[in-house]
Amino acid sequence: MISIIVPVGVFIAHLLTLPTVQAQTSNVTCLPSFNWSDNSLGQSPCLQAAWLQAECNDGNWRVNSLPPDYQYIGPTSDNSTENACICTTVVYNLLSACGACQNLTWITWTTWSFYCVDYRYIKEGTYNVTIPYGTSISAWAFDLPRNHNDTFDISAAQNIGDLRLQIFLREQEVYSLQLRHQPPRRLSQPLAAC
Ligand SMILES: *[C@@H]1O[C@H](CO)[C@@H](O)[C@H](O)[C@H]1NC(C)=O
Ligand SMILES: *[C@@H]1O[C@H](CO)[C@@H](O)[C@H](O)[C@H]1NC(C)=O
Ligand SMILES: *[C@@H]1O[C@H](CO)[C@@H](O)[C@H](O)[C@H]1NC(C)=O
Ligand SMILES: *[C@@H]1O[C@H](CO)[C@@H](O)[C@H](O)[C@H]1NC(C)=O
Ligand SMILES: *[C@@H]1O[C@H](CO)[C@@H](O)[C@H](O)[C@H]1NC(C)=O
Ligand SMILES: *[C@@H]1O[C@H](CO)[C@@H](O)[C@H](O)[C@H]1NC(C)=O
Repeated sequence: MISIIVPVGVFIAHLLTLPTVQAQTSNVTCLPSFNWSDNSLGQSPCLQAAWLQAECNDGNWRVNSLPPDYQYIGPTSDNSTENACICTTVVYNLLSACGACQNLTWITWTTWSFYCVDYRYIKEGTYNVTIPYGTSISAWAFDLPRNHNDTFDISAAQNIGDLRLQIFLREQEVYSLQLRHQPPRRLSQPLAAC
């Protein structure tokens, strides 16, 4: 299956399907200014969203690029489109960022989750399915839309991304300072621990 897209302003769409092969793919190229939104494996939010949604679809999901004036949407009134993957703020944030990184718009969490009737129990900020091997999820994707007027907030997400990078750099700095104060034999230890 692929992420459903609709023109801006349209809410309900027909489900588009593709022949299934085991794959998590996206042909979106994010703008360079969204490089902070990639995960540690260099995967864009679009590809991360494909990985997470594939968990609820036999390992298959594709996120296609948006034509101008289109948006990604959540489940439709067809209840086969709702599941424990798409009905999370995590997938919502990732696909919102995926729209944003194409310089396009995104919908609110309330609109996204409107037809998530069987999955209201999933706590916001959690992804209630196993995160598959082959991906890792960016920290900002766990932020709560309700802290940002019910929507994905680019600068808030970017701050979390930047913050993580800064903390990482600071840890590395601290680690190398410690190394300098230790006996020389410790210097051969790998830095990978941080
Ligand atoms: C991300 O892009 C910004 C400019 O938009 C650039 O300054 C920065 O070096 C880039 N970072 C990486 C890790 O590529
Ligand atoms: C991605 O694939 C879809 C479906 O084949 C196509 O409509 C779209 O133009 C492709 N986008 C890019 C950037 O290649
Ligand atoms: C979808 O709705 C039908 C009819 O109301 C119901 O029988 C079915 O169990 C529902 N499926 C899911 C996945 O909720
Ligand atoms: C993003 O879209 C706006 C119009 O909505 C346009 O003015 C701007 O040049 C676009 N930016 C990029 C990087 O494509
Ligand atoms: C995860 O799903 C289970 C049911 O499958 C539910 O009992 C539990 O409360 C959910 N946890 C979160 C954090 O949403
Ligand atoms: C929150 O969103 C609503 C509707 O989307 C908008 O009218 C309002 O101005 C927003 N408030 C803030 C503080 O951004």
